[in-house]
Amino acid sequence: MERVSTGIEELDRKLNGGYPINKVTLITGMAGSGKTIFGIHFIHKNCLEGRKCLIIATEETPEDILYQARLVGHDLTPYYESGQLVIEDIFENRSEIIEQTRYGFKSETLDIEIPDLVKLIHEGTACLVVDNIGTFALRVSTKKLRDQFDGLNYLVRKKGCTALLIMDESAHDMTHQLAEYSVYGSIRLLVKENSYLGKMERYMYILKMRSTPISPEMSVFDITSEGIKIHESGGESLAE
Ligand SMILES: Nc1ncnc2c1ncn2[C@@H]1O[C@H](COP(=O)(O)OP(=O)(O)OP(=O)(O)O)[C@@H](O)[C@H]1O
Ligand SMILES: [Mg+2]
Repeated sequence: MERVSTGIEELDRKLNGGYPINKVTLITGMAGSGKTIFGIHFIHKNCLEGRKCLIIATEETPEDILYQARLVGHDLTPYYESGQLVIEDIFENRSEIIEQTRYGFKSETLDIEIPDLVKLIHEGTACLVVDNIGTFALRVSTKKLRDQFDGLNYLVRKKGCTALLIMDESAHDMTHQLAEYSVYGSIRLLVKENSYLGKMERYMYILKMRSTPISPEMSVFDITSEGIKIHESGGESLAE
């Protein structure tokens, strides 16, 4: 199966070359666990390779995303300015409507649902990140959500996109982790205490990746000014 680089060398190695092409991979994790930065790596690498990319942002402005990307050494600004990278700003539309509704200027509420996102995917878009799809997942019944995820998978494939759907842990739990079954692959991020070392560490593990041999191990990673560094596991790190 053809793969698209994740933008993180160690993760590409773990995934036989990267995310499966034209499939949907889910990234879930607690607040601050690094989800957006995983998305930034994917987009940066694929912009670098000349692909058209799209970020659908529901929680941050394009400026925030560009700033964060610079902080981790993966500047997206040139691609954004040239139009190779499009950032659809659902965040500001949402905030505006929420504010107008609160102050009684407007009676309608934001009614974007997952299928509407597909309309935002421009012709020729190769790589897509939705950050955070949890925003839409809480608005519908679980049955409808399952159908919407299955539909999204189908349409993303039809459009020839490789997609990374980022979902916050609380929306994921509140929707009974349903999305997990629809998607092709799933990666979980967490921050927890390493009781042996007595310090907090960042962990990632690949929960599933269809058509890919994976080992069910947790990997420690750091976020640095050059981005995500996943520690090599087992004997390799001991040998260093
Ligand atoms: N250059 C850097 N060096 C070290 N840590 C950094 C650096 N840049 C960002 N971070 C840290 O990375 C953390 C995770 O970032 P990220 O925004 O990807 O998390 P997230 O899972 O998307 O969070 P949220 O659920 O709030 O959207 C940030 O909280 C920040 O503390
Ligand atoms: Mg984020």
